[in-house]
Amino acid sequence: MSKHCTNPYRPIETTVIDVVTESPTIKTIRLKPSEQITFETGQFIALTIPGIGEAPFTPSSRPSVKDTMDITVMKVGKVTDKIHELKKGDIVGLRGPLGTGYPVDTFKDKEILVVGGGVGLAPLRSLMYALFDRSQEFKKIIFRGGCKTPSDIIYQDEIAGWEKRKDLDLRLTVDVGDKAWKGHVGLVTTILDGIDIDHRNSIGVVCGPPIMMKFATFKLLELGFGDENIYLSMEKNMSCGIGKCGHCRLGIYYCCLDGPVFSYDKIKDFPEIWD
Ligand SMILES: Cc1cc2nc3c(=O)[nH]c(=O)nc-3n(C[C@H](O)[C@H](O)[C@H](O)COP(=O)(O)OP(=O)(O)OC[C@H]3O[C@@H](n4cnc5c(N)ncnc54)[C@H](O)[C@@H]3O)c2cc1C
Ligand code: FES
Repeated sequence: MSKHCTNPYRPIETTVIDVVTESPTIKTIRLKPSEQITFETGQFIALTIPGIGEAPFTPSSRPSVKDTMDITVMKVGKVTDKIHELKKGDIVGLRGPLGTGYPVDTFKDKEILVVGGGVGLAPLRSLMYALFDRSQEFKKIIFRGGCKTPSDIIYQDEIAGWEKRKDLDLRLTVDVGDKAWKGHVGLVTTILDGIDIDHRNSIGVVCGPPIMMKFATFKLLELGFGDENIYLSMEKNMSCGIGKCGHCRLGIYYCCLDGPVFSYDKIKDFPEIWD
C-alpha cells in the first residue's frame, strides 16, 4: 500500500498517459499515479474505472521505474471492456501495490526458466526486466513463451530486442501458425524438452491460463525441478485485495496477501489449485 494512503480502499487518482494495442484482445495502458507507487515484480494493483468497477492487474512494467506503471489487459468483461476504451488523459483509480511478488533475491546464483502463455506474459515482462537489471547475479536466464497464433504474441517489438540479448535464451511457440510464421508450432510444453538446465540448481516460474500452468508445472516436475523451486502466479477472483473478504481463498491462504505468487510446494495439495 502507498505510504501516503491511510484508507486501504481509497484509490489514488491516476492519469492514462499512453495506450498500446498489443493484439486483437490485449492492450497495454501506461498509467501515471498522482503519488509515486513502488511495486515488486509479481505484486498486483486494483484498477478502478469510475462508475463501472474495480479489477486486479499485475504491472507489466519495469519495477525500477517509479513514476509510471504499465498494465497489460485482456478484454474479457465489464471492467476490461471499459479499460480497452481508455484514451490518453483519462482518469482512473489505483490501489496498491498488493500481495506478494516473486522472491527475486532468492534466485541469486540459480538458473532461471520462465514459462509464459497468453496474457500471462504481462507479469512476466515485469519479471524479465527485474532479472535483466541484475542478470549478472544469475547463472542463466531462459524464457519460453506460447500464444495461440502469431497475432496473439504481445510485446513483439520488445521480444525482438530480447532475442538479441546475450544473457537470455529465448524461444516462442504458437498453437497454430500462419504463412509468415517460421518458428515452432505446438503447445508451450513442447519447447520445454531438451532445455540445457541444471534442475538441481534451478528456479522455474510459470504464468498463464490455469490449464497451461498445470501442464507446464507437471513438465517442470518431470524435468526434475523441486516443488519448492517452481513459482506460480495464482489469479483467483479477488475483491478487497487486502485479506478481509475471503473471496480469494486458496486452501489455508488468501491469494491477495500470501500470493498471488506461491511456490508450488505450498499449494499443490489444494483441490482448487488449477480452477
Ligand atoms: C492477482 C491478479 C492479477 C491479474 N493480472 C491480470 C493482468 O495483468 N492482465 C489481465 O488481463 N488480467 C489480469 N487478471 C485477471 C483480471 O483481473 C480479470 O480478467 C478481470 O477482473 C475481469 O474483469 P471484467 O469485469 O472485465 O470481467 P467480468 O465481467 O468480471 O468477467 C468476465 C470473465 O472473466 C472471468 N474472470 C473474472 N475475474 C477473473 C480473474 N480474476 N481471473 C480469471 N478470470 C476472471 C470471469 O469468470 C468471466 O468468465 C488478474 C487477476 C488477478 C487476481
Ligand atoms: S480479495 Fe478479499 S481476502 Fe483476498
